[in-house]
Amino acid sequence: MSKKYLLTTALAYTNGPLHLGHARSTYIPADIMKKYLKLKGKDVIHIGGTDNHGVPITLTAEKEGVKPEDIVNKYHNEIKRDLDNLNVEFDSYGKTHSDIHIQNAQEFYKKLKENGYIYEKEIEQFYCPDCDKFLADRYVEGSCPFCEGEARGDHCEVCGRHLEPIELVNPYCIICNTTPQLKKTTHYFFKLSALSDNLDNYVKNSNMPDHIKNMAYSWIRELHDWDISRGIKWGVPIPDDENQVMYVWLEAPIGYISFTKQLGDVWKDYWLKNNTENHNTKIWHFIGKDITVHHAVFWPGMLLGNGEYNLPDSVFSGGYLTLEGKKMSTSKKWVVWVDDFIKYFDSDYLRYFLMANAPLNRDCDFSFDEFQKRINTELIAIIGNFTHRALVFSHRKFGAIPIVDKKDLKEEDLALLNKCSETIEKYNKNMMDCNLKDALVDIIHLAKEGNNYFQKMEPWTVKEENRLKEIMFVCGVITKHIAYLLYPFMPNKTNELLDLMNEKMDLDVRGNELKKPKVVFSKIERDTIEMVKEKLLKSENSKNTNKKKNKKNNKNKNKNKNKNGEKMELIGIDDFAKIELKVAQILEAEEVPKSKKLLKLIVDIGDEKRQVVAGIKGHYTPEELIGKKIVLVCNLKPAKLCGVESQGMVLAAGDEVVALLSPEKDLPVGSNIC
Ligand code: 2FM
Ligand code: ZN
Repeated sequence: MSKKYLLTTALAYTNGPLHLGHARSTYIPADIMKKYLKLKGKDVIHIGGTDNHGVPITLTAEKEGVKPEDIVNKYHNEIKRDLDNLNVEFDSYGKTHSDIHIQNAQEFYKKLKENGYIYEKEIEQFYCPDCDKFLADRYVEGSCPFCEGEARGDHCEVCGRHLEPIELVNPYCIICNTTPQLKKTTHYFFKLSALSDNLDNYVKNSNMPDHIKNMAYSWIRELHDWDISRGIKWGVPIPDDENQVMYVWLEAPIGYISFTKQLGDVWKDYWLKNNTENHNTKIWHFIGKDITVHHAVFWPGMLLGNGEYNLPDSVFSGGYLTLEGKKMSTSKKWVVWVDDFIKYFDSDYLRYFLMANAPLNRDCDFSFDEFQKRINTELIAIIGNFTHRALVFSHRKFGAIPIVDKKDLKEEDLALLNKCSETIEKYNKNMMDCNLKDALVDIIHLAKEGNNYFQKMEPWTVKEENRLKEIMFVCGVITKHIAYLLYPFMPNKTNELLDLMNEKMDLDVRGNELKKPKVVFSKIERDTIEMVKEKLLKSENSKNTNKKKNKKNNKNKNKNKNKNGEKMELIGIDDFAKIELKVAQILEAEEVPKSKKLLKLIVDIGDEKRQVVAGIKGHYTPEELIGKKIVLVCNLKPAKLCGVESQGMVLAAGDEVVALLSPEKDLPVGSNIC
């Protein structure tokens, strides 16, 4: 049965342009896959667009004092510009704030309702009396009930947990800072839990990579029905309810269908079950790993509930990208925008580096030094070196790649041609599994073999013309293979290479007249990297430390990492002095009801007694704690954990085995620690 491939890329929120992290996790891999399948003659389309609804957009609009539409249009254009500059091609690219999508999402919703998957339920939600509105999602912030870190609506920025907004400790409205009240309201729910068996079955039979399947199973085990409406104005209206819009995560993925519809009737051949009897449709979603659950569980659940459409065959999720060892942060300006980057370097170099750096599903780092190193030592020294030498030599001697009779080739020539076939086989397998790094390694190996062969044959010493022709033919075949295999990764450079060879993008060597060779893969100079670093690494904190860091960099490569494996940010002694640490003694200890982790302690710090809540349940019994001398952070803002106030923080170490820190000698209670 013939196959049709439909690749989608996550619809970017129109609240900012694209940075290197987006490019790496999602758009470059999908485009590589699209170009690869297309080159193989497959029926493949790439569908994408932007996600225009939801709280991130209205928040940005409010911050900038403009209408959401203005923000949407501005960033929709900027995102598309960035994708064009990265050479990422689409067959259809749309906006969720468009008639075609709004209508399609509403039809989808109606079908879910008709099939009995939607019901209404009264819930409690935070409501801001000053703003007179319910605080949907990230309109409310506070502290995380698990780690006390800063939490935004449904997500803790520190421990990364998903939260229900009403779980937040010390919540406040982010518009006016008021403490919100809990108020009853009616929302629509999707009966996701009714689909758990179907979903489990679907995941089993899909071709998702195993790590995604395993994540999906664990989520499916804990499925709850899904709150799919919001009492705000910006979004796709819920049919027959003018006061609510669809939760953005319900309507956005429907955009994959809406934007395929933009192509006309052919959309049916990819999506509609009834139209795909004569072929097998492979829907592959390319996403960042933070939205795996939405694509591996929620979205397939929606499609199952709707019943009319094909389900995704696979989901490929890209890991996070750190920048120079630190988490990217747009608010702290620790980010490199695609638009800035491509002012200095060919987008092909970025495409190569981001895929060669680590397997797609792993987290990895972008560092300018590493970028320069990889480009110069792999692309330039191996691929560029071989292809350039092969073309220069053939051009000088013959003006073309000589064509010879394969029967006459020697064993070492045939061995290398065999190597080409083996490489293609391995490469194809890696590409189809989206093992893009491994596919690049295959190409590099082939080019290395080419270099070894060229060195060993020493064509410059060969007097006999026929033999020389054979050698240069073999080198021409390898060059052609390299260009062909590398094309999905580096479309610009490989087309330049083919242009010099006067060849088409295939594996044949025709012996056409060669153009005068020029350097296709040019080296990245140290000065360029230093200049770009100076311009693009703008975070205030990093600016001063960067210069110093570069000098010492190599020696200290693995030192000074924080617990997340990121480079530690250094603080001055003044910062440290702000923390008031004291020796305290535990007087009382008891469990916090309903909490898996927390114990409530009463501690003596010399001049007063404090109540603190510590996450050490399971590591200590309340009884064994009484009388222990410990270290307390005394000047932390009080916070409520599971409804219990904590007036400080107890210091402890360890992950699996947890130990309280205590002074090594018996010191008086209240002793200062500095
Ligand atoms: O996380 C995000 O950036 C979302 N805008 C992705 C949406 S993908 C799809 F489901 F529409
Ligand atoms: Zn408010």
